[in-house]
Amino acid sequence: MIVVGMAALTSAAVVAQMTGRGASDVTQPLAFNHKRHIEEGMSCLDCHKGADQRAEAGFPPIRSCLLCHSEAKGTHPDEPKIREFAERKESIPWIRVNRMPGHVYFSHAAHVAYAKMDCRECHGEMKDRTEPVTRSQVDHLNMNRCMACHDSKGVSTDCLRCHK
Ligand code: HEC
Ligand code: HEC
Ligand code: HEC
Ligand code: HEC
Ligand code: HEC
Repeated sequence: MIVVGMAALTSAAVVAQMTGRGASDVTQPLAFNHKRHIEEGMSCLDCHKGADQRAEAGFPPIRSCLLCHSEAKGTHPDEPKIREFAERKESIPWIRVNRMPGHVYFSHAAHVAYAKMDCRECHGEMKDRTEPVTRSQVDHLNMNRCMACHDSKGVSTDCLRCHK
């Protein structure tokens, strides 16, 4: 039991570091710039395809970047890294920073497709963002806030609706 407990403790610490919960910011593999790509006419759902269909919004696969970056574009020093990952047949190892505790169930589709909420209500103005996300944005989305909105919109506040 003690050994199992220690392992759980260690992996919790690793997860905390990998997901950006906790004190320090994460370093993303590339200097991705949301603003620059929204200016190209792309929408949130072009890259985060799960957001109106599934629980997880997801990250874009490298092949979707290569649609535009299979040849050099611009002069940013990180731009060639896309092709370096592709040549090594690797995906770009984005570090997910927003994550609820393991006992909580959250679904993007319920909020984006059914409740018609805008991404900015929970993630802020991503379209103006020029630097990658390095720190959780959902720490302010605590249980009180989930409950307050569910209450006001007449959505279930049953414990087992949000907890597994
Ligand atoms: C629809 C075309 C398109 C797609 C798809 C696309 N990009 Fe870009 N990207 C651009 C354009 C245009 C620029 C600006 C190039 C310049 O500076 O002239 C750019 C610039 C960049 C830069 C340089 C940063 C900067 O501030 O200019 C990086 C890094 C980058 N893209 C990464 C990505 C990644 C990672 C993906 C996939 C998740 C992606 N791009 C998908 C068109 C695209
Ligand atoms: C009601 C609040 C809310 C709205 C609206 C929302 N999100 Fe999220 N988002 C979250 C929460 C909470 C998490 C962490 C989820 C978890 O750990 O289960 C998250 C995580 C994410 C992640 C990383 C993990 C993943 O799911 O792949 C991405 C990317 C993301 N959101 C994009 C979006 C986009 C794009 C939109 C709009 C189309 C959006 N979100 C709308 C609350 C929201
Ligand atoms: C060209 C593809 C592309 C587009 C368009 C795009 N994103 Fe992203 N998004 C990414 C990539 C790549 C990352 C990971 C790097 C970073 O943090 O910038 C990311 C990260 C995020 C995250 C942080 C996920 C986490 O928890 O780690 C959120 C939230 C998010 N995007 C929301 C949005 C919203 C909202 C829009 C529309 C305004 C949008 N994105 C448009 C590619 C895109
Ligand atoms: C601003 C309002 C708002 C906030 C904040 C909000 N929700 Fe919701 N949520 C809704 C609405 C509206 C629905 C009903 C969507 C529908 O019609 O199915 C919903 C539905 C749900 C469902 C039911 C999904 C299903 O398929 O049964 C879950 C689970 C849920 N929310 C969890 C959360 C969690 C966890 C948080 C906090 C991290 C949260 N919500 C924050 C408005 C909100
Ligand atoms: C609308 C979604 C939602 C509902 C309904 C909900 N919770 Fe939560 N709960 C959350 C979220 C999100 C967290 C994690 C964030 C936080 O700790 O505030 C959480 C955290 C908790 C925690 C852990 C607190 C901690 O300090 O780690 C407990 C215990 C808990 N909830 C009990 C309950 C009970 C009991 C009910 C039913 C009366 C309930 N919850 C209903 C969303 C919900």
